[in-house]
Amino acid sequence: MFIRTYLLHRPILLILDPEIGRDILIKNFFSIPNRPQTIKRHNDLDHALTRLTGDKWRFMRNTISPIFSSGKMRKISPVLAESCARLLKNVEIETNHGRPIEFKQMFGNFTLDAIAAIGFGIDLNAYGEENNEFILNTKAIISNFVGFGAKLNAFMPPLYNLLHTLRVDIDRQSKGTMFFRGLMEEVTNLRGDHRDSVDILQLLLNAHRDTEVSDTEQFLEYEDSKEHCKKRGLSKAEVNSNSIMFMIVGYETTATTLTFAAYCLATNPKCQEELIMEIDKTIGQATPDYDNIQKMEYLDCIIKETLRLYPPVPRTMRETQQVMDIAGYTIPPNTPISIPIYAFHRSPKYWEEPEVFNPDRFLEKNKSKLTPGTFLPFGLGPRSCVAMRLAYMEAKCAMIRVLQKYKFIPCEQTEIPVELDCRFFLKPKNGIVLKLEKRETQTYQ
Ligand code: HEM
Repeated sequence: MFIRTYLLHRPILLILDPEIGRDILIKNFFSIPNRPQTIKRHNDLDHALTRLTGDKWRFMRNTISPIFSSGKMRKISPVLAESCARLLKNVEIETNHGRPIEFKQMFGNFTLDAIAAIGFGIDLNAYGEENNEFILNTKAIISNFVGFGAKLNAFMPPLYNLLHTLRVDIDRQSKGTMFFRGLMEEVTNLRGDHRDSVDILQLLLNAHRDTEVSDTEQFLEYEDSKEHCKKRGLSKAEVNSNSIMFMIVGYETTATTLTFAAYCLATNPKCQEELIMEIDKTIGQATPDYDNIQKMEYLDCIIKETLRLYPPVPRTMRETQQVMDIAGYTIPPNTPISIPIYAFHRSPKYWEEPEVFNPDRFLEKNKSKLTPGTFLPFGLGPRSCVAMRLAYMEAKCAMIRVLQKYKFIPCEQTEIPVELDCRFFLKPKNGIVLKLEKRETQTYQ
């Protein structure tokens, strides 16, 4: 059911039963583990959705979630198409030289490129530009986000607080976040009153005028009325925090999903053939966009099966807000609860041959065989990934673009089975090296 264990000195509940995990995730009265509030020290990420709790979070979630509606994804689609075209061009350059490709780097550049364009309307072209300021600062923020400061905060909040009081920049975020604060100010000033750009920054700036409610989410009740939550726009600090947070959580997760998908296809050639057949039959050489990718069931299964075997976020956390009853046990307030996404995804109790890559599990006709609460790559419930639709669209469009021209094949440097690094985000420890083989013309009509 669950076990009590420790995160260093802190007792936590580790959930073993997916039904209980699901129950905890979908109930709103579990919070996310709180950052200690004893010390008020400004941090650039203070207003980010991932960090907020209670009514502040509800306000932010209601304001932000329409940014990821299907209507907005349709608008963002052409911007993404340009990033996909650039990915293909760079893949082509490497392949023409006969070089194997390290895909974590290649897809990492693609997601950076896509985030810069979708997030800020910036034409980055990340490939071969390792010294570009945008890239250096994004990477610095990400590595510090999952680095020493974050771990100290989770494991030893008192020491973390003490260092903060002493004004030690333990998160080492300042330089990177200062860069983005400046960049956002520059972009916003340049735009002046022209509010028609299609990117996340502009959608955040316009959020309070957006009357749309995300088509997948229930409006979360906020204080006295729903209207109240939409009345004010986001402050500069709120826009900054959330833009930076989108980059942190959006970059690594989508890049590793694509990298593992390439690995799974290279090592499962029959699945790759079937996917290529679907692409040829459904869109041929047309540009993938939000609407035509919806017609591809097998592609959806491929991405889901990749996320099952390699969920970029291998666990998620909640915390009891008050004394709670969980499965008949009384649990004190402020108890962290760990939901082991990776372990649920690979449990032989719920999956037949869990280590085998088998996209058919997710076909519509087989969906009734899935056990609720055992497939959680984007979490579940009110705090589930707000950008799931964008993540799927990015991964699918990029994958189609490559497979319209090439096949992934293993080479001497391909590590099989791939060694995993599970420390914060799940990723391939040593990257994933594959070759691309040019496809003949369209095989399947
Ligand atoms: C394949 C890609 C991605 C995966 C697997 C993923 C997974 C997750 C997971 C597991 C959570 C926590 C859910 C929970 O605890 O119930 C989460 C939250 C979140 N994700 Fe994603 N994510 C992905 C891409 C993205 C992208 C591209 C963005 C933004 C551009 C994003 C923004 C967020 C935000 C803001 C939250 C916090 C939501 C809240 O606290 O209300 N994610 N994501």
